[in-house]
Amino acid sequence: MDVKISPSILNCDFGHLADELEKISNADFVHVDIMDNHFVPNLALGLPIFEAAAQATTVPLDAHLMIENPDRWAPAYAEAGAASVTFHAEACQAPLRLARELRAQGARAGLALKPASPIEPYLDILNEFDMILIMTVEPGFGGQSFIETMMPKVTRTRRAIEAAGLDVWIQVDGGISRSTIEQAAAAGANNFVAGSAVFRAEDAYAEVEKLRELAAGACQHASI
Ligand code: DX5
Ligand code: ZN
Repeated sequence: MDVKISPSILNCDFGHLADELEKISNADFVHVDIMDNHFVPNLALGLPIFEAAAQATTVPLDAHLMIENPDRWAPAYAEAGAASVTFHAEACQAPLRLARELRAQGARAGLALKPASPIEPYLDILNEFDMILIMTVEPGFGGQSFIETMMPKVTRTRRAIEAAGLDVWIQVDGGISRSTIEQAAAAGANNFVAGSAVFRAEDAYAEVEKLRELAAGACQHASI
């Protein structure tokens, strides 16, 4: 399985955004967290910063919308150049319609689940999405601890994807670091968001490489 490393810029130095993005030029995606203080108890980023990031890097952008009413707002991120737009199942009125709209705009469509949300209602419509984001923390803040009990959900999702013969990515987000990435990869994830692990490292570029190497090794030995 193809491993993707997607550093989150939530806690980067926004005064030097271009330099911060330059440090992770080896990433597969730049993960941009959008928060509205309604869906999650935090307010962070929005379209203007997203557009600035798009100008400042050639790495594709992965928008993670932690907002109410993504039906209304998500297409603007695809229009702003997002390679991938992920919205939360808990906030969306019409997930199929929105995923189709995003795909028609040329973006990958992602469906995100909070820790207490089950994958089961979506198992028959996995083909409508390019990625399922299984949150490994409660969304809202960087620097929280990885919730290991999400791993069975990752594995059930991977099995369903394989049984249907689909090429849907599984992203994990929250508490991903050198000490947790291998178990997430072994459980069936292939796209890894890491915020503090990358931006608190002395060498962010080297940390992306290290995380990729660990995940790739664990993917190879995964028996799902
Ligand atoms: C949390 C965000 C994450 C966050 C991850 O709600 O969705 O993307 O930035 O940060 P770490 O890797 O520090 O848990
Ligand atoms: Zn995120």
